[in-house]
Amino acid sequence: MSDTKKLRLGVNIDHVATVRNARGGDYPDPLRAARIAQEAGADGITAHLREDRRHISDADIEGLMDVLTVPLNFEMAATSEMQQIALRHQPHAVCIVPEKREERTTEGGLEVAREENRLAHFIAPLRDAGCRVSIFIAADKRQIEAAHRIGAQVIELHTGAYCDAHAEGDAETVKKELADLGEMAKFAYGLGLEVHAGHGLNYETVSPVAAFPEVMELNIGHFLIGESIFRGLQPAIAEMRRLMDEARA
Ligand code: PXP
Repeated sequence: MSDTKKLRLGVNIDHVATVRNARGGDYPDPLRAARIAQEAGADGITAHLREDRRHISDADIEGLMDVLTVPLNFEMAATSEMQQIALRHQPHAVCIVPEKREERTTEGGLEVAREENRLAHFIAPLRDAGCRVSIFIAADKRQIEAAHRIGAQVIELHTGAYCDAHAEGDAETVKKELADLGEMAKFAYGLGLEVHAGHGLNYETVSPVAAFPEVMELNIGHFLIGESIFRGLQPAIAEMRRLMDEARA
């Protein structure tokens, strides 16, 4: 593989919308954050339109499609409502994620193996419309093989368990999770899948994941939006970009 390919950074702007929605008005505007992220070196913008619209709204997606000069990675659950929205906008990429109403964030990867048939039919029209279809999954061989069989072009490996273990200071689990992520990135790449990763990454956890040569894109949101309170969005993203480039070199 060519390791000269630059690792892409997708900035997830969901939590700009979370802060906006806390007051029900227009401020802060996720589109303004997306523009700053682009200028700060984001290679893409990620937004998750949840079924309950708790952060990103339908109007946000419409606005992003209008203003972005970098690709939009549209995260969504595998429902017919979301499929229709994706087909209407035809974003560059669609990332299928599991969604439970009661969860605070996307807690685990998608169970592709159990729903192979349904998901194969679900993603076919999205692929036909020209969207790159990505599946958010755990670093699990069974799920990766199933994602490949249903025709996904991309998998995004869930880094949440690794990041949680790091936050808890559980060095043994960190080691195991990183080993699994590295091994499964290699395995998926070998099948011809493009490999992305994300969830819970911050300045302390990003480097080992960025160093996996098979990983082509990281999607990072909550930490960057939080960090922007202290240092501003542009510098927060620039520092993440620097750490990713350093790990890759
Ligand atoms: N990738 C996917 C598929 C996600 O669902 C999320 C969370 O919305 C992220 C990446 C970003 O996670 P975080 O906000 O914890 O950086």
